[in-house]
Amino acid sequence: MQLQRRNRVLRTNAAIRSMVAETVLTPADFIAPLFIDEGEQYKQEIPSMSGYFRYSIDLTIQEVKTLWNLGIRSVLLFVKSKDELKDNTGKEAWNKDGLMQRSIRAIKDAVPGMIVMTDVALDPYSEYGHDGIVKDGEIVNDETVEALVRMSLSHAEAGADFVAPSDMMDGRIGAIRSALEEAQFTRTGIMSYSAKYASCFYGPFRDALDSAPGFGDKKTYQMDYANRKEAIKETLMDIEEGADIVMVKPAMAYLDIIREIKDRVTVPVSAYHVSGEYAMIKAAAKMGWLNEEKAVLESLTSIKRAGADLVATYFAKDAAMLLQ
Ligand code: PBG
Repeated sequence: MQLQRRNRVLRTNAAIRSMVAETVLTPADFIAPLFIDEGEQYKQEIPSMSGYFRYSIDLTIQEVKTLWNLGIRSVLLFVKSKDELKDNTGKEAWNKDGLMQRSIRAIKDAVPGMIVMTDVALDPYSEYGHDGIVKDGEIVNDETVEALVRMSLSHAEAGADFVAPSDMMDGRIGAIRSALEEAQFTRTGIMSYSAKYASCFYGPFRDALDSAPGFGDKKTYQMDYANRKEAIKETLMDIEEGADIVMVKPAMAYLDIIREIKDRVTVPVSAYHVSGEYAMIKAAAKMGWLNEEKAVLESLTSIKRAGADLVATYFAKDAAMLLQ
């Protein structure tokens, strides 16, 4: 054959492939989610998330130091609240000395450079396991937003760099932004879970925090996975209301959404490679059906290729080690 161009030339060996790679992962792309529990020197593996743990604050700090040394620059905090602190107001969420607030202070103290992001939603504090306040079997929007504002202010006060509302109530980004401004927290960012779908892939996470909804599901606030335009509407509104970073969640089944959002916005886009996506790879690898390391790098590279500037992933540490 006499060809004008042979595309395989650019795939000949690892050297040329690395020269022309369009997407390159770096540890600073990752946001490492951390599950925090009470206690000292306490760690507990999450059964449905093999190799992933809940740590007490002291062990969390060791973990944060390790992550920092691997080049990871941000952590996303979740706390497991005690049953006796759960109610329908979620008031533990803005307790100055709550587990979240103590964790933020301890991490910023130990590793000041680490960007600390905090989950903002009522589910870990709700007796119903819902992200908002429940009235007559419904999750009420406006009262929930008031609670989320209090929660965000208390995280900012404790030193959080970003609050990350994951609840999908209407109007919460604008309300949180105004409250932060009013209280002069002018350096606190907002990473909005702007296109968050009602997904079965959050199952293992709810095990980790013991936060599964006690009744019903989350479909009246999280998005229907059948929808694409709705993700754009939600995201553009959150940006309008003051979100610094937007997010698509989950990631792997929503790569089309990540790309579409990336093409339409000028703020950084993050994607959350969620607990069920982690668990699937872990389970298949355990069975010997997948090469875990390769599956991790291929998945995370694909999420970045789809348009994610940042990827929240339970594989952050493993991937950062693989990239060393
Ligand atoms: C809480 C929250 C959830 C996740 C992040 N924040 C669970 C949910 O919405 O039910 C899921 C993360 C994961 O599955 O890794 N609002």
